[in-house]
Amino acid sequence: MKICIIGSGYVGLVSGACFSDLGNTVTCVDKGIVPIYEPGLQELVVRNLKKKRLLFSTNISNSIKKSDIIFICVGTPTKNNKADLKYVFNVTKSIKSNLNRYKIIVTKSTVPVTTGDKITKILKSNKNKNKFDVVSNPEFLREGEAIRDFQFPDRVVVGTSSNKANKIMKKLYLPLIKKGGRYFHTSRRSAELIKYASNAFLATKITFINEIANLCEKSNIDVKEVAIGMGLDERIGSRFLRAGPAYGGSCFPKDTRALVSTGRSVTFKPGTDDMRESSSLKMIPSLIRKGAHVNYYEPTGKKKELKSKNINFSENIKDACKSADLIIIHTEWNEFKQLNFKKITKKRNFKVFDMRNLYSTSEMKKNKINYFSIGR
Ligand SMILES: NC(=O)c1ccc[n+]([C@@H]2O[C@H](COP(=O)([O-])OP(=O)(O)OC[C@H]3O[C@@H](n4cnc5c(N)ncnc54)[C@H](O)[C@@H]3O)[C@@H](O)[C@H]2O)c1
Repeated sequence: MKICIIGSGYVGLVSGACFSDLGNTVTCVDKGIVPIYEPGLQELVVRNLKKKRLLFSTNISNSIKKSDIIFICVGTPTKNNKADLKYVFNVTKSIKSNLNRYKIIVTKSTVPVTTGDKITKILKSNKNKNKFDVVSNPEFLREGEAIRDFQFPDRVVVGTSSNKANKIMKKLYLPLIKKGGRYFHTSRRSAELIKYASNAFLATKITFINEIANLCEKSNIDVKEVAIGMGLDERIGSRFLRAGPAYGGSCFPKDTRALVSTGRSVTFKPGTDDMRESSSLKMIPSLIRKGAHVNYYEPTGKKKELKSKNINFSENIKDACKSADLIIIHTEWNEFKQLNFKKITKKRNFKVFDMRNLYSTSEMKKNKINYFSIGR
C-alpha cells in the first residue's frame, strides 16, 4: 500500500519506518527537523531507505496525491488545558486541496472525541463526495520501547463506520495481527476515547502506587513488595505499579488534562459538533530556587527547557556526579543501574536520592551510603 505520514516525530517516524518494513511504500512528511532517539530506529530507517520503500519529503501536496492512506501524526500540545488541534486541522486543509482520488485519512495523533467528525466536516464538499473516509487509529507505543510496541502491539484499535476503510486497515495491520496483536474494530468516537481513557487509567495507577508509597515509608514497609502482591491479582496487573516520581512525559499530563476538558465540554454530547512535562523539568528549577547548582546528565542530550546560570549539562554521568553533594536518579536508563557511587563522586558525605528504586537498600546500608528511595 502507498502510505503518507504527515508529522514525522516520535509517532510518525516510528510508524513510517515500521510500515515500510512490512513492505509498504511510505513517504514521511515533516515541516521541521526530527531529531529523535529511539533504540533500533536508525537501523530500520536505513534498511528501508536502501530498499526505496521509505522516502522523506517536504512536499506535502505530492505526498498526499500519490498515497492511499494518509496518517496524521502531528503534535497535539496543551493550550488552555485543552488539546490544541491547530496542527491537525492545518494538515486536514492540505489534504482537502490534494484529494485527487479515494483515500483513508487516519488520525494517529491523540485527539479528543469528535475530532474525526470535525475533520470530516472540513473535508466535505460536493467534489470530495465518496473520496475519503476518516478513521481513528490511536497509537499506544511507549518512548524507549517504540519499535517493539509497534511491531508487537497488544491491540490495534481502528474506529470507523466504513466497511471499506475497515477492510483496508485490517489488511495493512495483518502482519501484526498474525503475530498475535488483537485487531479491535469500533466506532470512531470510541477509538478516540479509548486512547485518552487508557492513558488516564495508567496515570491513575502511577499516582495510586505513589500514594501507597507514602504510607509504606511511614509504616516501614517496602512498596515494591506491596506492588508485587497487588499485581499478582490479574484483575489489577503488575505494570505501572512502580513507585517513583509523579507521572510526566510527553503524553500523560497533556492527555489527562485534555480528557478533563473534554468531559466539561458541550461538544462531547452526541449529535453536536496535547521534553514535554518530565517532572525533572519542575524539580531542577525548584532546586535552583532553593540555591542549588545542578549538573544534569541525560543520555538523549541537553534539554532546551533547562536554562539558568546554575544549571549545567554534563556529557556523561561521571562529569555530572564528580562534585555532587546530592545525586538524584530520576530516570531508569540502564547506564544508571550499576553505578559505583563512591567512585563517581569526590565528595565524602554525599547523598543519593533514588527516585526509581534501582538499588538495594541493604546494599547501600552495607556500603555506608546515605541512600534514600521511594516507599521503602
Ligand atoms: N510520543 C509518544 O510516546 C506518543 C505515543 C502515542 C501517541 N502520541 C501522540 O501522537 C501525536 C504526535 O506525537 P509525537 O510525540 O510524535 O510528536 P512530535 O512533536 O515528536 O512530532 C510531531 C511532528 O509533526 C510535525 N508537524 C507539525 N505540523 C506539521 C505539518 N503541517 N506538516 C508536516 N509536519 C508537521 C512537527 O514538525 C513534528 O516533527 C500526539 O498527538 C501525541 O499525543 C505520542
